[in-house]
Amino acid sequence: MASFLEKYRRSHTCGALRESDLGARVILTGWVQNYRDHGGLVFIDLRDREGVTQVVFDPGLSENAHRLAGELRSEHCIGIVGKVVARGANKNENLATGAIEVWADELEVFSKAETPPFPVEDKLDTNEALRLKYRYLDLRRPRLQKNLITRSLITKTVREYLSADRFLEIETPFMVKYTPGGARNFLVPSRLNPGSFYALAESPQIFKQLLMVAGYDRYFQIVRCFRDEDLRLDRQPEFTQIDIEMSFIDEVQLQTTIEGMIAALWNDVLGLEVTLPMRRMTYAEAMEKYGVDKPDLRLDLVLCDVTAPCKTSGFRVFENVVNGGGIVKCLRVPDGEKLSRSTLDGLTDFAKQFGIKGVAFARVQEGGAWQAPFAKSFSDAARDEVNRIAAAGPGDVLIFVAEKAKAANTCMGAIRLLIGDKLGLIRKHEYQFMWLTDPPLFEVDDDTKEVAAAHHPFTSPRTADEDKLESAPGEVLARAYDLVLNGVEVGGGSIRIHRSELQARVFKTLGISDDDARAKFGFLLDAFRYGPPPHGGIALGLDRLAMLMTGAESLRDVIAFPKTQKGSDLMTDCPTGVSKKQLDELFIRLVDDLPQKS
Ligand code: AMO
Repeated sequence: MASFLEKYRRSHTCGALRESDLGARVILTGWVQNYRDHGGLVFIDLRDREGVTQVVFDPGLSENAHRLAGELRSEHCIGIVGKVVARGANKNENLATGAIEVWADELEVFSKAETPPFPVEDKLDTNEALRLKYRYLDLRRPRLQKNLITRSLITKTVREYLSADRFLEIETPFMVKYTPGGARNFLVPSRLNPGSFYALAESPQIFKQLLMVAGYDRYFQIVRCFRDEDLRLDRQPEFTQIDIEMSFIDEVQLQTTIEGMIAALWNDVLGLEVTLPMRRMTYAEAMEKYGVDKPDLRLDLVLCDVTAPCKTSGFRVFENVVNGGGIVKCLRVPDGEKLSRSTLDGLTDFAKQFGIKGVAFARVQEGGAWQAPFAKSFSDAARDEVNRIAAAGPGDVLIFVAEKAKAANTCMGAIRLLIGDKLGLIRKHEYQFMWLTDPPLFEVDDDTKEVAAAHHPFTSPRTADEDKLESAPGEVLARAYDLVLNGVEVGGGSIRIHRSELQARVFKTLGISDDDARAKFGFLLDAFRYGPPPHGGIALGLDRLAMLMTGAESLRDVIAFPKTQKGSDLMTDCPTGVSKKQLDELFIRLVDDLPQKS
């Protein structure tokens, strides 16, 4: 006898049927979400990745199907044939298919399921470790299915948009030459070259620049990148970039292309319009007003710098910090009565994680006077000037941190978000994009004065700053930019150096000798001797974009098979130890006392 799948082809998905399909004979396949027996009738919710349809088995219609249905349990995989019937007064408004149900006269059980370790449903408080161990069941949950469907739509839109704009999708190697600096690399031993290692590419950076030299103007790749970093909610050891490089452009042209792509994504995937052009903000302004290089603009609170009046305020604590080279940052919070004393006192504890010893606050009263333990020590003139800079008025609370600039900014940036969240001032449903521009080219260590590349060593300095490369590297700004969305860095890139004499000067400032540069990047320097075009690019974090577009809280919710905080895959139990024989083949010897996982 012909099997179910030989006789029938699925006619609809479980999310498709509507009132307009009433009377149709349909064939559905999927998993049993739940099962109810009501006075002789068996009801099941049949689920696939598109939705859920109620299916009814009536012994009057088919005794055989009804008997089989009596044995169904959650997560059995089945196929049914039946007729679409109106649910009438029993309509389920919460379900897309809620106006109809299918009265089945045929049932095929493709496979049975053991009782799952957790119910396959969205409202779930099972711990994440168990969900990751049984990830294939977790992935059956409607929310994760929706996230992965959205992610697929994102890559489809990106490919369509970029291909229509003359971009070529070109693959670059994952197994690459190890070059120190940048993110920490995963290493892969080479059996054929004993003692030698490949690195897993942290990004296609150098290869995409070589593709520009080779004339493949307008490259893109949706590409996996590998970084052995400490992991957080917005970081995975293997993640995906939408990687882009263009020749014969400047930063505005490149940004305009990316803005068009983002607008297409928001339109096609979310049905929303993005206002273009996006806001641009310099790194200096971002640090001044928000304390971070990725401001969340869904929150209107801004910081201000009150170092000048505090220097001569009479308040010793602030004066000492300023005289020691520090700054005083201030956050004005309107409607300060909503901030309880305990919340404000709690800020000092919160600030400890940033190495900050104390957070001061003052309540502004009629006439501008402050209610604060230190109010008496603060001169009236300095107080009035702080009020003026912060635009403070009666009822406001002023929050202060005095420290070295970097720590003060980081801490106050975090306090701004904390207070915004506590007072419900963050407009959660907005998408606030911005370009962060003109960041420093180098990071200069406060103590050792050592210079490191802030982005990567091929980033171009601003033309106007080139003459400061040797004399004042800390002041040189880069032709680099980040795309920021709701306080998350979703992309970063730059215009690259394509003149070898400028590259040589940047290497020199970075303390990379000619020999070192040759050893690390000789092939790139060689390539740049053969007519490199001016070029620049960007990489967007696809996982982060998908996380923000789906409203997910973690990258793990938009990656089918993610790693845990410790870089493990709990489903396959990876990483694992390997046999001595395998290690011998790779010429790797284990240190005896190294803890080994079997
Ligand atoms: P960058 O290192 O800034 O630039 O990376 C680009 C974007 O990739 C995302 N991202 C990550 N996402 C998840 N997990 C991680 N561990 C992770 N690390 C980075 C971020 C980030 O903005 N080659 C350059 C780009 C260029 O200059 O063109 C690069 O890789 O969203």
